[in-house]
Amino acid sequence: MFTIQYPLSDRKGKLFIEDVAVDMLAKEFKTPLYVYSESHIRKRCRDIIGAFSKHYPRFLPRYAIKANNNPALLRVIRSEGFGFDASGPHEIELSLAAGAHPSDIIYSGNNHRNEELQFGLDKGVLMNLDDLDQIERLKKLGVPDFVSFRINPMIAAGDIKGLVFAGADAKFGILEDKAVEAYGIAKEAGARRFGIHMMTGSCVLDSAYFAAATEKLLMIAGAIRKKLGITFEVIDVGGGLGVTYRPGEKDLELEAAARGVAEAFSRLVPELELGNPHLMIEPGRYIVCEAGFLLTRVHSIKQAQKRFVGVDAGMHCLLRPALYDAYHHIVVDGKLAFRDGEKVNVVGPVCENTDQLAKDRELPRIGHGDLLAIFNAGAYGFSMGSNYNTREMPAEVLVHGAVADLIRKRESLSDFQAMTVMPARLQ
Ligand SMILES: Cc1ncc(COP(=O)(O)O)c(C=O)c1O
Repeated sequence: MFTIQYPLSDRKGKLFIEDVAVDMLAKEFKTPLYVYSESHIRKRCRDIIGAFSKHYPRFLPRYAIKANNNPALLRVIRSEGFGFDASGPHEIELSLAAGAHPSDIIYSGNNHRNEELQFGLDKGVLMNLDDLDQIERLKKLGVPDFVSFRINPMIAAGDIKGLVFAGADAKFGILEDKAVEAYGIAKEAGARRFGIHMMTGSCVLDSAYFAAATEKLLMIAGAIRKKLGITFEVIDVGGGLGVTYRPGEKDLELEAAARGVAEAFSRLVPELELGNPHLMIEPGRYIVCEAGFLLTRVHSIKQAQKRFVGVDAGMHCLLRPALYDAYHHIVVDGKLAFRDGEKVNVVGPVCENTDQLAKDRELPRIGHGDLLAIFNAGAYGFSMGSNYNTREMPAEVLVHGAVADLIRKRESLSDFQAMTVMPARLQ
């Protein structure tokens, strides 16, 4: 999303998120500040459930916590009927705290330690394994009743190279030929219920891709079923529903994506004798990305070989531009419509040259104290942040109508000091 549209509005040149003015938020909670629209998150949850369950009623929606792990957001998403995809023990704990039943949690991680596998076993969540290595280790720890494997179906997509999670270069999942062996071991070891999973890439805007990838996974499931005679209770086609970041990009047609996936199920499930499986998906970005904004204040303006606008957010709190050269749209509060723009680089305070949130970006003429809103910050924003350069992570606020609630405090030096330990001999 990159235009002023719901949950944003332009009220006499001032930017509002739902019914709260961003300058009020910045005054009250200071900057940098993450702000999320609750209504937008709820809408996205409802859109997903509506689109998929209309075509395939045995539909199980899960939210990938890694996109944004704030417990208040998890509560909102849970209350819309979602379970969770957890990538580690802490995400299992957060899912349970948000009200999920263990069977509503799919536990997918590659490279899990034994303790992490054990944690999932003890909690009774759906174990989604990444390799033969994990089922071999589970044979010693205890084999769960339900076992799923993440498959690398050798079909992949993703809007940036780093967001492609399947295919020849991927560290994730298990190849088809090994999968038969893996399910065989699980069956032999006592697993009785089975799932199959893929997560092939993130931020996919081509609705047709989801059906193509689903067909591939169903064919693999069919081959496994034929060889081993097992039935799949859950077929999880992953996340990856894309959102637009740049002007000119075309929105994902959610309805078409859902229809394509459901059609593949309706055609291939009977043909391959796959029984009566649940269709599971686990999007992250689609639910929270466009609901989130990072507010940041301009503190310096430097005219050098380029014009550098220095703000108080940086790669420590929004890593995506530095990590993937990702585009995030930016508007200036009070200057939403402008004619005489200037090309600037919006830069943070971190001592890395990759700490540039926008490069050669046409923005209105910017002055000290201006307030910028960075779009699409709800997913993989806060959750990818760090304390690099001993910078504190921002506060987070959830807006609902005219109400703005603090949902995470700004970090402070004492949080840093609480985690570090000075040996007595150095005191
Ligand atoms: C296993 C798994 N599921 C779901 C997701 C969510 O992906 P997205 O945010 O693209 O929907 C990810 C993202 O990395 C993932 O690794």
